[in-house]
Order: sequence, then C-alpha cells, then structure tokens
Amino acid sequence: MPHVVIILPTYNEADNIRQLIKQLTDVFKQEEEAYQFSILVVDDMSPDKTADIVQELQKRHSNIELLLGEKRGLGAAYVRGMHYAVDKMQADILFQMDSDLSHDPKVIPSFLRKIEQGADYVVGSRYISGGSIPENWGIDRKIYSIAGNLVIRFGLMIPRIHEWTSGYRAMRTEVFRKIRHGLEKYRGYIFQIASMHRVVKAHFAIAEVPISFIDRKYGKSKIIPKEYIPDILRYILLNSSFVRFFITGLFGFGLDFSIAAFLIYMLHMFEPTANAISAAIAVSSNFLINNYWSFNHKKITGGLPVYIRKYMQFVIVAVGSVGIQWLGMYIAFHTLGEQDIIVGTFNIHPWIVYKICIIIFFIIPYSYLMYNRVIWRAPEK
Ligand code: GDD
Ligand code: MN
Repeated sequence: MPHVVIILPTYNEADNIRQLIKQLTDVFKQEEEAYQFSILVVDDMSPDKTADIVQELQKRHSNIELLLGEKRGLGAAYVRGMHYAVDKMQADILFQMDSDLSHDPKVIPSFLRKIEQGADYVVGSRYISGGSIPENWGIDRKIYSIAGNLVIRFGLMIPRIHEWTSGYRAMRTEVFRKIRHGLEKYRGYIFQIASMHRVVKAHFAIAEVPISFIDRKYGKSKIIPKEYIPDILRYILLNSSFVRFFITGLFGFGLDFSIAAFLIYMLHMFEPTANAISAAIAVSSNFLINNYWSFNHKKITGGLPVYIRKYMQFVIVAVGSVGIQWLGMYIAFHTLGEQDIIVGTFNIHPWIVYKICIIIFFIIPYSYLMYNRVIWRAPEK
C-alpha cells in the first residue's frame, strides 16, 4: 500500500493544528483502503508551543511524527521534512500543505486521483477554473498574488502552469529524489517557485487541481513581501531560460554590429560581404551560447551529426525570422500606411516602429518557441 506523508510546516499554529489534524484524520478514513497515511509536523520551536499540542495528539494517533528544528524559513522546513519523510519514513507520496486551515484537506483525494492517472507532481491551483482566492482579501493582496503568478509564469515562459506560489501540493517521492540536490538554498517562500521549476526542468508530468484558498482565522501570516518580491525577481533573472535567451539575442545583435563595423572600417571590406560574415558569426555564436547557457538544461547530445543537424535547423529558424520581418513589414505598410509617426516633437519613420513591434510580438515568441520545441526539445521521458 503506498505510504502518503502529509508534511505540515508550523510556526505558531497552536490555534490551528489540532483542528487541521482532526480534519485530516477524517479524510484519511475515506482513502484507507488504498493508502497508508502519516502526518509529519515540521515545527521550528514555535514560541506558542505548537509542538506541545502535537505531542499530546501523538499519544492518541500513532501516525503522527514531529520534527523539531531551528527557524530558517518555510523552504528550509520543507526540505528538512521531505528528506526525513523519504529517508526515514519510506514515503511513496509527499504532500505539502499550510497548517493554518487555508488548505482544505477535503481536496486530498483529488490530488491522489491525479497521481493515479499518471501525474508525478500535482499543484493545488487558485488560478484555474474552480479555484479561487478569498474574496475578503484586500485589493493589494489580490494584485500581489495575481501579478506575482503572471510574472513568474511568463518570466520563466512556462505558461501552461497557472499556479506557481501555492503551497498545497503532492508528489511522488521519486520527484523529490530527483530535485533535492541543492534545494536547501531556497530557504524562504521562494522554495515553492524554485522547487516547481526544477520539476518542470526534470520533465515530470505536472497536473493542477482547483483549490479555494481560505483566509486564516487564527494566528498570522509569516510572509514578508519585502523579502519575497525581490527573491522572486532575482530568481527569474538568474534562472529563466527565456531571460537568458533574450540576453543572448541582444548580445548577438551587438556582436553582429561590432564585427560588421570592424570589417568595414578597419579592414575596408566590401559592406555586403562584411555583413554576411558578421551575421554568420552572430548566428553561430548565438547557437553556442543558447546551447551552453540559455538552454543548458536541455543541451544537445548525440555527437557531431546531431550538432550539425541542429545547427542547420537553427539557421533555418533564423531565415524564418527574416521572412517574418519581410511579411510583417509588407502587411504593416499596406494596412497602416507610410506616413511618419509623430510623438510630441519627434517624427519617427514608420519602419522603425513596425520593426520594433514585429520583433517584440512575432520574432521573439517565434524564435523562443522554435528553440524550445524544435531545436532544444525536451528529451522524451
Ligand atoms: N516550520 C516552519 N518554519 N513553518 C513555517 C515557517 C517557518 O519558517 N514559515 C511559515 N511556516 C508555516 C506556517 O506556520 C503555515 O503553516 C505555512 O507555513 C504557511 O505560512 P503562512 O505564514 O500562513 O503563509 P501565507 O498564508 O502568507 O502564504 C501562502 O501563500 C504563499 C505564497 O502564495 C501559503 O499558501 C504559502 O504556502 C505560499 O507559498
Ligand atoms: Mn497562511
């Protein structure tokens, strides 16, 4: 029978933990024919004596374990708990869940159904149909949550996952075994984002189940927006293959220009030849930088023949960009016209505006999609 371990991080949840464990026990009963359940409370010596309540409950329930430690943040507590559940409790499935009754235990069966259907990792989502955030949240908190998720979703360019920050999740333990190395550096709430990103990069099957987040009634939130928001932005800057792809593109643009200028002004080369050479070098260097940096988690393997084939594909994609620019420009001139665009006292030639729009709205998404789906396609699992 698979062993399910529900990990409950607690810091000052004395008013919630008893009620939560009672609700969990009720849900366990519905599933007891197929699963064995345990609860692992990871408490950081809460001053409100949450641990005392857990110890008292342990006398009545043989399936509760308590792991005590120093307070280092939510992520640190989860990592500690997950190692323990996998190494000491022989867990097959791990759950992450808030201990303040914000996550309704009644949803546990839906998580399990998703895993039975083949998911490796299931996230409780407030941003898919059927899910919700509390109506009584202030507008600022709603905006933080919605905008935060959008920034992560599109900053990492993984739009298929709608929820990145929710702390209600379930996974097969093999997922944790695969991603755990180095995870301890994400000590705070950023753990939620970093851990799911690793799951995506390891190509596990991810599913979402709708959840309604319930505002806590007792105690208070430990989230510190002043730390969490910069953590998110820093994480995206350092870890997004989309951001790296973008930087690589800018670098290639600079390289193309500098080499062309060098060949023309220093070596007095014929301009078309100089530009052909600089473009060829920029395309090749972009290919290498993308392979060893932007998409380094999906590096091309399989020897020289594969490299050559991928490089040819890369060149074809670049030719495609040229075609898109031509077509876009043609359509823009025919539909929007050739007259100058006036911004204040500036007269801007229309082709410049058209080109910038074509690059942002067509060339960048097109190239990123082709790189991701064709050239650096994820290996089949
Ligand atoms: N052991 C331990 N150590 N537990 C902690 C710590 C810590 O340093 N910090 C928070 N917790 C526990 C809390 O006691 C609670 O059970 C759970 O982690 C969630 O913490 P809250 O303080 O209630 O967080 P929140 O409701 O503001 O945050 C919600 O949104 C976040 C981002 O969207 C939660 O759903 C988070 O899981 C989510 O990441
Ligand atoms: Mn909470």
